[in-house]
Amino acid sequence: MSEKPVLTTRQGHPVHNNQQQRTVGSRGPATLENYQFLEKISHFDRERIPERVVHARGFVAHGEFEAYGTIGTGDDAVPASTYTRAKLFQEKGKKTPVTIRFSTVIGGRDSSEAARDPRGFAVKFRTEDGNWDMVGNNLQVFFIRDAIKFPDVIHSLKPDPVTFRQEPNRIFDFMSNTPEAMHMITWLFSPYGIPKNYRTMRGSGVNTYRFVNAQGEGVLVKFHWLTQQGEHNLTQEQADAIQATELGHASKDLYEAIERGDYPKWELNVQIMSDDEHPELDFDPLDDTKIWPREQFPYLPVGMMTLNRNVTNFHNENEQAAFGTGVLVDGIDFSDDKMLVGRTFSYSDTQRYRVGPNYLQLPINAPRQDVVVSTNQDGGQMSYHVDKRGANPHINFEPSTIAGLREADESYREYRPFVSGQIMRAPIERENNYKQAGEQYRKFDDWERDELIKNFVTLLSQCEKVIQEKMVWHFSQCDEEYGRRVAEGLGLDYSAVRA
Ligand code: HEM
Repeated sequence: MSEKPVLTTRQGHPVHNNQQQRTVGSRGPATLENYQFLEKISHFDRERIPERVVHARGFVAHGEFEAYGTIGTGDDAVPASTYTRAKLFQEKGKKTPVTIRFSTVIGGRDSSEAARDPRGFAVKFRTEDGNWDMVGNNLQVFFIRDAIKFPDVIHSLKPDPVTFRQEPNRIFDFMSNTPEAMHMITWLFSPYGIPKNYRTMRGSGVNTYRFVNAQGEGVLVKFHWLTQQGEHNLTQEQADAIQATELGHASKDLYEAIERGDYPKWELNVQIMSDDEHPELDFDPLDDTKIWPREQFPYLPVGMMTLNRNVTNFHNENEQAAFGTGVLVDGIDFSDDKMLVGRTFSYSDTQRYRVGPNYLQLPINAPRQDVVVSTNQDGGQMSYHVDKRGANPHINFEPSTIAGLREADESYREYRPFVSGQIMRAPIERENNYKQAGEQYRKFDDWERDELIKNFVTLLSQCEKVIQEKMVWHFSQCDEEYGRRVAEGLGLDYSAVRA
């Protein structure tokens, strides 16, 4: 007898023959009462769920986050409780399990990981107060600052609905009408647009959040993950060589590193600002197309993340994983950033469609075991259990005199920022679309600038002249040389375009 476990159907019936269908005689016809075959083939027919509308290709790993208990370094470090009451940060050495999903944005599930594309950096902290998701990227900023433009920016970057090719003319048609995208595309078309792999890239929360302390006081905060493996990127030529033979080099690199015990690490840093509009700045602190200058708002370390465990099943732990910007714990709060609000609706909305209404009952998405989940949510497709943990099963409503669930502790101190104003549709006042793009252009090393110009010229050469000219004009607003070099590469008369 073999040591292998016995194959069964999902009804628990042993499978005695997995090689042949049940047929009339050995040549057929096949019979339809063959439950074993029907269960197997019809489950196979439904093996895929819809891929994510963005970030379809990704890779998941598990690990832990270890808090420093403080915020900052050396003599300037203060207890974490100064700014936030979030429990995971409070004590030095406190460990919180994490799940991370790295991703590309535009390509489908099996697309190249060497594509020029922002990289997703989504971390789920499994804290004692429930999950906290930080859903970020590697480039610190984003293309747009208002959530209403998200479907448009993504449509322009996704394949053409007719030719199903990623068309530069469509991409730059949109970008040339979106001045706030100049900072992001300056990063994206530089070597930072193709990180060498996931281990050697940084991450950022991008949107602005609030930290809230035990006294109910709030500050604005931005999050950054600094890779401890050194930051490395690829030139277009290096990326082309990789994707000629391998589509999943970054997943492979991460998986193999963890398998051999070479556990990658990222240090979590925060930048902090008082919670107001900061009229002294030439940008709006809630504008996700801007970096908070590091010289003015230093990086303050708060802890270290180590990835030390691979997934055991890609579908269960990656395809069904759901991250969202609304998934926060006490001590970390929303800011008034209007992108963040739009994102927060969109993530769980798409997950209810993509995974199903009970997606939060799946082990990959549920809070950790010691967190009690008790709701009155009932039913829906694929309901796995009733999450009432011992409460009267007849009472699925609240309030109730008889039994059921009650509201949590009333001593909870809610953070209550004051908001007033006219309701309107209007751009923010401090748009300042070009300054940081120009500064970044000048900060790049020579070879990075050369790559940037070459990458733009290659793609813009495939665009109509009117789009080329508009793009060159925007670049010239960022930096005179930036515009001139792209114009020269495209054979345009720069002085005419600038005029
Ligand atoms: C209004 C703007 C945005 C909207 C409406 C939006 C919407 C979405 C949606 C619908 C998904 C798919 C989620 C799923 O199927 O599970 C997604 C994934 C993702 N988005 Fe966004 N997004 C926006 C902006 C951003 C920004 C600014 C960042 C980076 C800071 C970002 C990072 C990510 C990441 C990392 C994922 C993949 C999460 C995973 O690995 O499962 N998104 N986004």
